[in-house]
Amino acid sequence: MIKNMTLILVSVSLLISTTVSATDLIDYPDGYRLWGHVKSMTIHKGHPLENPFLGIHHVYANQRALAGLKKGSYEDGSIFVFDLLQNKTSDKTSVEGERALIGVMVKDSHRFTKTDGWGYEGWAGNSRNKRLVNDGGLSCHGCHTQQMQHDYIFSQWRD
Ligand code: HEC
Repeated sequence: MIKNMTLILVSVSLLISTTVSATDLIDYPDGYRLWGHVKSMTIHKGHPLENPFLGIHHVYANQRALAGLKKGSYEDGSIFVFDLLQNKTSDKTSVEGERALIGVMVKDSHRFTKTDGWGYEGWAGNSRNKRLVNDGGLSCHGCHTQQMQHDYIFSQWRD
C-alpha cells in the first residue's frame, strides 16, 4: 500500500513538473523562413554587439508581428525571429555562411509577465535542442527595454 502511494506521488509530481516546463518552453518557430522578411543587418568586429551577434542577421515576423510593426504594439501570438549567419567576406563581397544561432521573441502577456509580455529563446546553429536562454529571458529583455516605447522591438516597419 505504502509502495503504491509512493508510486502515485512520484507520478503526480513528475506530471506537475513536466506540465510546468512544457508551458514555460517556447516552441522552435518552424517555417519562419517563409514569414515576412523585416530587415537585414551585418555586425562587424569591434561593434559592441559583436559577442554574440557578429555576422549577417535577418529579422522575420509572422503575420501578427507584421501587423504590430505597422502599429508599434503587438498582440499575443506575435513572433519575431533573429536569424544569425556567419559573414564570409572575399572578392569585395559579403555572403552568408553557416547559421550561428536564431533568437526568438514571442508575445504572450499571460505567460511572460516578468519580461513585459515577451518570451525570449535562442537555439545554437541549426540545432533544435541546444537552447540558449536559461534566465527566463531577463538578460535579453534588459537590452530590449531600450525600446520600451516601441513595445520592446528594435525593428521598424518600412515599405
Ligand atoms: C545588448 C543588446 C541586446 C541583447 C542582450 C539582445 N538583443 Fe535582441 N536585438 C538587439 C538589437 C539592437 C536588435 C535589432 C537588430 C536590427 O536592427 O537588425 C535586436 C533584435 C532582436 C529580434 C528581432 C526583433 C526586434 O527587436 O527587432 C529578436 C527576435 C531578438 N533580438 C531576440 C533576442 C534574444 C532571444 C535575446 C537573448 C538571447 C536578445 N535578443 C538579446 C539587441 C539586443
